[in-house]
Amino acid sequence: MRPPIDNGTVLIIGAAGGIGRELARLLSPRVRTLVLVARDVDDLGALREELLARNPTLGVMIRACRLDDPRAVDALFEHLERHYVRVDVLINNADYAFSGLYAEERWKRIEELVQANVLAPAMITHRLLGPMLERGRGGILMVGSGAARLFLPGAVTFAATQRFLDGFSESLRLELKDAGIPVTFVAPGPLALEPHLDGEVTPFFELSLRQCAREALEGFERGEALVYPGLGHRWVMRLLRFLPRSFKRGLGRLALGGFKRTLLLKPSMPGPGAPPQPVLLAGGEPTSAT
Ligand SMILES: NC(=O)c1ccc[n+]([C@@H]2O[C@H](COP(=O)([O-])OP(=O)(O)OC[C@H]3O[C@@H](n4cnc5c(N)ncnc54)[C@H](OP(=O)(O)O)[C@@H]3O)[C@@H](O)[C@H]2O)c1
Repeated sequence: MRPPIDNGTVLIIGAAGGIGRELARLLSPRVRTLVLVARDVDDLGALREELLARNPTLGVMIRACRLDDPRAVDALFEHLERHYVRVDVLINNADYAFSGLYAEERWKRIEELVQANVLAPAMITHRLLGPMLERGRGGILMVGSGAARLFLPGAVTFAATQRFLDGFSESLRLELKDAGIPVTFVAPGPLALEPHLDGEVTPFFELSLRQCAREALEGFERGEALVYPGLGHRWVMRLLRFLPRSFKRGLGRLALGGFKRTLLLKPSMPGPGAPPQPVLLAGGEPTSAT
């Protein structure tokens, strides 16, 4: 069950940087058309120029879409339909994340994170699956995070959204098995965002963006359900499966300690014009102060 990448049309959500951009670079010599989506088209424009310089016959469509805005996702699909774009492979890679203590976060931001990391990928997949099933070909690559396996105080909502992506991908994969549409969940660990300098010690875990993208793609094409890119990260993730939940809570407590120490180093008082702080209602439900 191989995804129809060669000569196909691949939609990459979150293509302007990081793993998404590396996936676009790796796929560009093989596909017919790339549809590249991010919040901002400026970086996408530069990427399109780069890809076309190396692959003059490649079709590249770029489109801005804020996944945290449901109307923008609708507008993206109207645009694709108007241009008769038929997506063979969906790569969902957008990374909307921030850190902060949950009770202190504005509700609006939490809502946007859930919209971008949960509702948008679910909606985009739903919109594309019907046509994929009709044609009897397709593939879905979900790029999430190893955070799906951890408890992450300081990134509570983000960690929860990664669990959603994990369960969503694995369950959907079972539903689509007979239809021949592979679904792969990729859960990377720490990535080196910049190339290491000569002589610099590379941490055992850290993987380059290019290598992460390559391993994600290889796993997808082998039809794997779950890919942990990088040898070190893969072993830790496999080991975690056998450790009791209490051990993971211990790791979470350690992470919380580190997170609070970094908070102490930051200026704590909001300055003039700072966003309103959330109000905790008696029932415990946070709401925006606006
Ligand atoms: N980097 C890591 O260390 C790491 C580790 C583990 C897992 N991951 C996972 O790998 C995936 C990619 O991460 P990355 O580090 O490569 O990301 P990145 O460099 O930050 O790129 C993220 C892409 O997502 C887009 N994006 C972010 N928020 C968006 C929104 N609300 N609407 C539309 N597009 C949005 C960005 O668009 P703009 O550029 O226009 O903002 C960008 O194209 C994510 O799922 C992340 O959780 C990353």
